[in-house]
Amino acid sequence: MNLILLGAPGAGKGTQAEIICDKLNIPAVSTGNILREAMKNGTEMGVRAKSFIDSGALVPDDVIIGIIKERLAQDDCKNGFILDGVPRTVAQAEALEEMGVQIDKVVDIEVLDDVIIQRLSGRRVCSACGASYHTTAKPSARPDTCDRCNGALIVRKDDEPSTIRERLKVYHEQTEPLVEFYRARGKLVVVQGQETVADTTRLLFEKLGVSL
Ligand code: AP5
Ligand code: MG
Repeated sequence: MNLILLGAPGAGKGTQAEIICDKLNIPAVSTGNILREAMKNGTEMGVRAKSFIDSGALVPDDVIIGIIKERLAQDDCKNGFILDGVPRTVAQAEALEEMGVQIDKVVDIEVLDDVIIQRLSGRRVCSACGASYHTTAKPSARPDTCDRCNGALIVRKDDEPSTIRERLKVYHEQTEPLVEFYRARGKLVVVQGQETVADTTRLLFEKLGVSL
C-alpha cells in the first residue's frame, strides 16, 4: 500500500507512521526526520534547511522533491511506503504525480490547533536516535532518557511556542489545500486524531480496511 499521511504539525503523523510501518511492514519516509539527520551531520542540505526549519517555515520545494526522488527509488519502497509529512505544498504533490508515483490513500489526521499546541509543548525527542515521546501521552520509562538507546531527551527547537504558532500558520496556508487536492482525486480519508494514539490507530486502520 502506498500512503500519504497529511495533517498539521503535531497531529500524530510520525506516531501513526511508526505503527503502520510495524503492522504492514512497509517503510515510513519522513522528510522531517531526513532533514533533521542532515542537519545533525552538517551536510550541505542540512545547512541549507536549518534556517527554514528553525523559524517554522517550509524548506524549498526543490530540496524536498530531490529527497523524495532519491528515497522512493530505493528497493525497500518497492512493496509500499508511508509518506509522513510530504507532500506539503501543491507543487510537491504535482511533482509526485509527474514522477509517476501511484498513491492508494491519503489519510488526513484532523486535530484542533489548541490540542496541537499542548501536544507539541509536551513532546520530547531523543538527541541520539530521534525517537519521539510525550511528557504525559507517551512518557519514557526513565525521565529524560530514551527507552530505545539511552540517549538524552530534548525539546525540538521548532517546538518553542512561538515557532509552533508559525508552523500552524504555514500549515493552514500552504498544506491544507492538499486536502481538497486529494479529495478531488478520490484518495482522501479523514481520521479524527483528537483522542488517544490507540483511538487514532483504530480509526485509521478501519478507514484503510486493514484488520488490527
Ligand atoms: P516534520 O518533522 O514533518 O514536522 P511536522 O509536520 O511539523 O510534524 P511533527 O513531526 O511536529 O508532528 P507529527 O504529526 O509527526 O506528530 P507526532 O507523531 O510527532 O517537519 C519539520 C520541519 O521540516 C517543517 O516545519 C519544515 O520546515 C521541514 N519539512 C519537513 N517536510 C517538509 C516538506 N515536505 N516540505 C517542506 N518542508 C518540510 O506527535 C506530536 C506529539 O504528540 C508527540 O509528542 C506524540 O507523542 C504526541 N501524540 C501523538 N499522537 C497523540 C495522541 N493521539 N494523543 C496525545 N498525544 C499524542
Ligand atoms: Mg513528525
